[in-house]
Amino acid sequence: MARVAIVTGGTRGIGRAICEKLQDAGFTVIANYAGNDAAAEQLKADTGIQSYKWDVGDHEACLDGCARVAAEVGPIDVVVNNAGITRDGTLHKMSYDDWHEVMRINLGGCFNMAKACFPGMRERGWGRIVNIGSINGQAGQYGQVNYAAAKSGIHGFTKALAQEGAKFGVTVNAIAPGYIDTDMVAAVPEPVLEKIVAKIPVGRLGQANEIARGVAFLCSENAGFLTGSTMSINGGQHMY
Ligand code: CAA
Repeated sequence: MARVAIVTGGTRGIGRAICEKLQDAGFTVIANYAGNDAAAEQLKADTGIQSYKWDVGDHEACLDGCARVAAEVGPIDVVVNNAGITRDGTLHKMSYDDWHEVMRINLGGCFNMAKACFPGMRERGWGRIVNIGSINGQAGQYGQVNYAAAKSGIHGFTKALAQEGAKFGVTVNAIAPGYIDTDMVAAVPEPVLEKIVAKIPVGRLGQANEIARGVAFLCSENAGFLTGSTMSINGGQHMY
């Protein structure tokens, strides 16, 4: 029977590319999403991938949602924590709500999904958790104290949980994407983005597929000795 993989924020952008790549790799894929019903329907129409709607920043919703997926589809063997938001602004203009929402969803979501799925993986002796961090969690970014802190937290979370999963066959890794051609990056003001792209050695934004290929490798049988690592996929923008 195919292993079940869940991708948070899986109906658009990088998440959707990950869903499709994991489906190609033979997993039964479920996309989680929070808001955009039209994107979920489009994903289903194009690929047959089913979506479940809940907010990953809501602890109880994650426990309930993952229990529902396990009952209706099968035990969850792979979690890709991809869901994330930006609320950019310099610190002196950033509200507490902008700080808290980014921490709640981007970092809290990883904890909530792991709480829901890690115990079962541990019991069954196999699991893969891939957390989507960011170049901006490694290097920092002007106007992103909230996002950089949450993404940096994801990298620490990954290394800590990797140590707990290792003897149970559960690997935990992170990918740190650079600037990828998605709606999130398209929201960066044009002149700011031009300056950022000018500093990417390969000279372009990345493609969602280039992140998805890395995720598929980390989720494969071949990656069983690879845990606690961060794969930086950023066109050479930050060598870490
Ligand atoms: N370093 C130093 N100074 C900077 C700077 C930087 N990187 N970026 C902007 N500044 C300066 C500007 O030059 C400007 O200075 P002057 O007033 O002296 O000209 C000052 O800061 C204010 O800049 P803005 O006019 O842009 O200020 P703003 O308040 O309108 O906007 C901002 C600030 C929201 C942070 C805006 O600059 C912005 O959106 N920056 C992009 C942030 C970014 O890269 N976000 C990534 C989103 S995608 C993502 O996060 C995915 C991922 O994982 C990679």
